[in-house]
Amino acid sequence: MRRRLADWERSARARLDPAATDFFAAGSGSERSLAAAVEAWDDWCFAPRVLTDVSVVDTTLELFGRRLHSPVAVAPVAFHALAHEEGELASAAGAAQAGALYVMATRATRRIEEVAARLPEWWFQVYVLNDRGLTGALVDRAVSAGARALVLTGDTPIVGPKPRSAGPIPLSDEDYLVNLGLELAESATPGARDLTAEDPGTTEEAIGWLAERSGLPVLVKGVLRADDAERCLSAGAAGVVVSNHGGRQLDGALAPAHVLEEVSAAVDRRGPVLVDGGVRDGRSVLKAICLGADAVMVGRPAIWALAAGGEEGVVELLEGLRLELAESMALAGARRLADCDRSLVRFDPGKGGRR
Ligand SMILES: Cc1cc2nc3c(=O)[nH]c(=O)nc-3n(C[C@H](O)[C@H](O)[C@H](O)COP(=O)(O)O)c2cc1C
Repeated sequence: MRRRLADWERSARARLDPAATDFFAAGSGSERSLAAAVEAWDDWCFAPRVLTDVSVVDTTLELFGRRLHSPVAVAPVAFHALAHEEGELASAAGAAQAGALYVMATRATRRIEEVAARLPEWWFQVYVLNDRGLTGALVDRAVSAGARALVLTGDTPIVGPKPRSAGPIPLSDEDYLVNLGLELAESATPGARDLTAEDPGTTEEAIGWLAERSGLPVLVKGVLRADDAERCLSAGAAGVVVSNHGGRQLDGALAPAHVLEEVSAAVDRRGPVLVDGGVRDGRSVLKAICLGADAVMVGRPAIWALAAGGEEGVVELLEGLRLELAESMALAGARRLADCDRSLVRFDPGKGGRR
């Protein structure tokens, strides 16, 4: 799978506008957290069980009462139209075919309703925008279109500066504003993008507001601390996503693989815990489950697969990760995801990446 991912990235880079490649690949600052997110999974080693019957390995799970074929989901990533002409329509169709959960971004570049029509199971990622009315209208549309949960991104009060992607993003106003309202571009060109920017004054108050407005479970994404998990749950969150935003927000922030265990312990099964950042193979998925995650999400891998292979590329990526997870579970002596417990991994930074 590692090799296939590298192939996808190479062929995606060959097809994409260099500015689009940089937009997807970039991390913030010195890109320290970007690299650390990937390497940190290697700091965990397996302590496999012997002589366990693994003739049937089951990767299914239940989230909010819905059965999923795989614990590998597509993370919310902005602007899929930069990766493929069909944008989110293709990535969503790929996730649906692979039986994987799809998290649609606020900054999707195809209409929410059209993307949703391709998805049996999806959640909607929410940025609380400077225009609260617009945020609420987007949430209402996601609810009507069948979203089963909201994912409130909590780590983006402002957008982290990314030197590698400092130039203009080659995205048309039409794609940028497809869900936000094209009239914004016509009425107030210089201020249009400000109204649609993240509100830096957003607090945990938004959790209750979103839960009440939508009637859906709200997960908070970007949690890297046990006390934040507690604060979010107390404010009404139904779960958390452990994430450093793929190393795109605070450079130097901890790697998700290093804090997942303590955040999961704080959540203590009161709701689902998801994790993303640097997951590149099925072994890392298994480590995440052992450390308390219910599911993982992949961001850039899905984008490279989309750019290189469209819908089929996304199916192949997700099914490949699931098969690699199943194989790793068999080798570790785990039949079901519930068997993937903390005893199967040891923290051993000497053997892997840095800490
Ligand atoms: C190009 C790009 C755009 C992203 N856009 C969003 C976004 O709009 N909302 C959000 O919550 N996270 C966003 N993310 C973060 C992803 O949801 C996810 O946390 C991250 O990509 C996981 O790391 P990975 O790329 O190593 O898998 C974005 C990530 C990338 C790479």
